[in-house]
Amino acid sequence: MPDSFDALIDDALARLNRAVRDRDAPMHSPVVVTGDGDARIMVVRAADGDLAALRFHTDARSPKVRTIAADARITVLAYDPFDRVQLRLTGTARVEQTGDWADAAWAATSPLGRRCYLAMVGPGAPLSAPESALPADLRDHRPTLAQSEAGRANFAIVLVRVTAFDWLRLGRDGGLRARFERSECGWQGEWIAP
Ligand SMILES: Cc1cc2nc3c(=O)[nH]c(=O)nc-3n(C[C@H](O)[C@H](O)[C@H](O)COP(=O)(O)O)c2cc1C
Repeated sequence: MPDSFDALIDDALARLNRAVRDRDAPMHSPVVVTGDGDARIMVVRAADGDLAALRFHTDARSPKVRTIAADARITVLAYDPFDRVQLRLTGTARVEQTGDWADAAWAATSPLGRRCYLAMVGPGAPLSAPESALPADLRDHRPTLAQSEAGRANFAIVLVRVTAFDWLRLGRDGGLRARFERSECGWQGEWIAP
């Protein structure tokens, strides 16, 4: 297990990169907490090279998009139950529905991955029956690439700028914990009690 600041930064990054690549990775779908205190699971889609930024995808109609526009504060909470490692990342978020990054993220999303953006109403809208809100012909089928393009209007990326994070491992040895703050010279770490 890592025991220096640099090793912990590398470890956090490795865990998040694995989460991006591997849907079975323990940190694939962390809890994302907005400034209003609401929390939800989201799939992490990208983590940049020095842990300064994370990317998520979302439906532009979802309530969290309005929340983030009003209050950019965000926390991302990820946990690896096998290694008993918790990552708590905090920073600010912004939503982009248009632009090069949103276009590239949409282009890299498969037709099946795009299907949720074809729902007739956005997440949280009331329904009159226990159903998915997908058009009937798509409920049991993946859309064709052409069909999936209609979802682009509802697709957005959430970009998180990470300004601090907390690395914690609990174990029989009493565990290890460090807090990191981003400064102009990079990450500044301090050891804190688990
Ligand atoms: C396994 C799983 C993965 C999910 N991934 C995402 C995701 O990547 N993006 C997203 O916006 N919502 C995702 N959701 C749905 C959210 O948890 C949430 O229900 C939805 O985004 C509405 O959130 P809001 O009301 O806070 O806007 C996922 C839910 C589950 C159970």
